[in-house]
Order: sequence, then structure tokens, then C-alpha cells
Amino acid sequence: MLEQLQELRARAARALDEAVTAEQLEQWRQEYLGRRGALTVALRGLGQLPADQRPAAGRIANEVKTSLEQAYEARAEAVRQAALVEELARGALDVRLPGRPQSVGYLHLSTQTLREIQAIFSQMGFQVLRSGEVEDDATNFQLLNMPPDHPARDMWSTFYLNVPGLLLRTHTSPGQVHAMRRYHPESIRVILPGKCYRYEQVTQRHEFQFFQVEGLALGHGITMADLKGTLVNFARQMFGAERRLRFRPSYFPFTEPSAEADMDCIICGSKGCPLCKYTGWLEILGCGMVHPNVLRGGGYDPDEYSGFAFGMGPERIAMLKHGISDIRTFFANDLRFLQQFA
Ligand code: PHE
Repeated sequence: MLEQLQELRARAARALDEAVTAEQLEQWRQEYLGRRGALTVALRGLGQLPADQRPAAGRIANEVKTSLEQAYEARAEAVRQAALVEELARGALDVRLPGRPQSVGYLHLSTQTLREIQAIFSQMGFQVLRSGEVEDDATNFQLLNMPPDHPARDMWSTFYLNVPGLLLRTHTSPGQVHAMRRYHPESIRVILPGKCYRYEQVTQRHEFQFFQVEGLALGHGITMADLKGTLVNFARQMFGAERRLRFRPSYFPFTEPSAEADMDCIICGSKGCPLCKYTGWLEILGCGMVHPNVLRGGGYDPDEYSGFAFGMGPERIAMLKHGISDIRTFFANDLRFLQQFA
């Protein structure tokens, strides 16, 4: 009997060493310690022993039972630990891998330029006003002194909406009308940045969509000298303190007199080069004194009030500033271009 017990203990211990999973362990428990397990069966056999052998055999049997139970507990703990380690290893992060860089956003070059322009004009007391991209014929044309069939409308061919009389604005000049409606009869000093649209053949120099910044200053005794001073100051802050401007007579239906402002070439200093097409000058904006009909349309009496207006394209300004030769790159959404201005 004693030999049987010792042999059972050794067999159980070997089998326990081989149990590596929780299932194998449970199987072992049933096989040795369970109700019909080997040890239980052996213990039952104790009753058949002669009385003088029973105490010693009982003691040994209990020892074997305790030692198997302890061995089982220890093994169960080891199996649990191993499972945990394995699970951790499976879900492990390799912290030595370099992180994936987050791409940080940045402003589009047009927006950056718009903000630069806004900052310069706000120093001179201009407020930023916004108006919609959809306009009606009256505001885009008629109130800007272009009645239906006016030939100047050809310069601003555009996209029309399905709703008759509505169109995508061709310039920010209708913003002058909105500003007058809003501030009448106060004096006005605003800039109006925003998107404009034209039915254009798209080329290196022309896009069908682009930004403009309109400026309007209106009040008592405003003269062309104010217009010139304001724009010279702008050009110098934007392009450098030594810049000069030239005002070349031009025509816009909504200003009288009208002018194009040219800046001395930033590449050659007006000696002549490919950028300025050997003229020495770069056209940067259109401007003029607000036409009396436009003032009247906005409710301002031209005998009392006068004002100046200008309109510039920030893409054009950015092209000059950064030496960009093709306006189409602005909206082509090619990051290789845009990231240069991040
Ligand atoms: N709206 C004109 C254009 O788009 C520019 C302009 C604005 C000219 C204001 C004079 C005064 O070409």
C-alpha cells in the first residue's frame, strides 16, 4: 500500500509537470484529486488494510494528498502567469519604433496673403467687411454704374445661377454697395476680401476663381491724394520701404477718374527684366475716385461726400512677392506647391 502511494505521488508529479494549459491542468486535477481520481480511490482502499497498518498508511496518504494539492496550486499559478505573459507579448507595442509624424495644418498661400493685406490696412483704420459670393445683377453691375447692355460688362463675364438675375460676383466691388447700405450716412473705411468668379479662359495669368480685396474710403473731403498715400503705404509695407508707385489713367465704370497702380519692378528696380516684361513696372491693382452715380446709389450725396476705392488680387500680389509664374498652381491643390509656403 505504501509503495502504491509513493508510486502514485511520483506519477502524479510527473504528469503535473507536463500540464501546461489550463485545460490540461483541469484534466490532471480530475484524474488524481477528483471524486473518482486515483488518490481518492487509493484512500478508499485504506479501509481494507489490517488495523495495525492503518495509522501509518493514513498518515502517508494524507501527506501525499496535501503535497499533491500544494503542487497543483503552485502549478496552476505558474500556468496563469505564463498565460498572462503570453497575452502581454501578443499585444505588445514595440516602443522602439519611430512614431508616425502628425501632419500639422497650415494656411493656404491665398489666405496667408489675404491676412497680410488685412493686417496692413487695419493699421490704417480699415475694418474688414464680408459680403456674399452670390450677387444680383443690380449690385454687381447696375449700382456700379453699369446698366443692362453696358459694354463694360463684357470685361466681367461670369457664371449665372438658375435663378434669373443671380450670378457669382465677378469682383468684390458690389461690396462697396453693401458697405454704403450698411453704414449710411456714416463715413466708411473698409476692406472687403473674398472669392470672385469670372468666365475666363484659364491661363498662366487668369483663373476662373480667385480672391480679391476691395477697399473703400468714403467721407468728407477725401481726395486722390488720400488714395495715393494709402496705396503707397500699402505697397511699401508689403514689398519693401523703397517701393514706388505709378498711377496710370484707366477706365472703370464705377470710378472717375480711374487708374491702374503700377509698382516699380521688385526684381530689376524698373531697369527692365522678364518679370516686368522690360517695362520696369508691375501692375498691382485698379483704383479710382468713387463715381457720383455709385455714391448716389448708396444714398450718399456726391456734393457732400467723396471717396476712393481700389481692388487687388491677392494671388497676383503673392505671385509677385514669391516669384510664382502660374496662377493655376493656387487652386490645383498640389501639396508640393502649397507646402513651400507652410
Ligand atoms: N473691380 C475692379 C476689377 O475687378 C477693380 C477696381 C475696384 C477698380 C475698385 C476700381 C475700384 O477689375
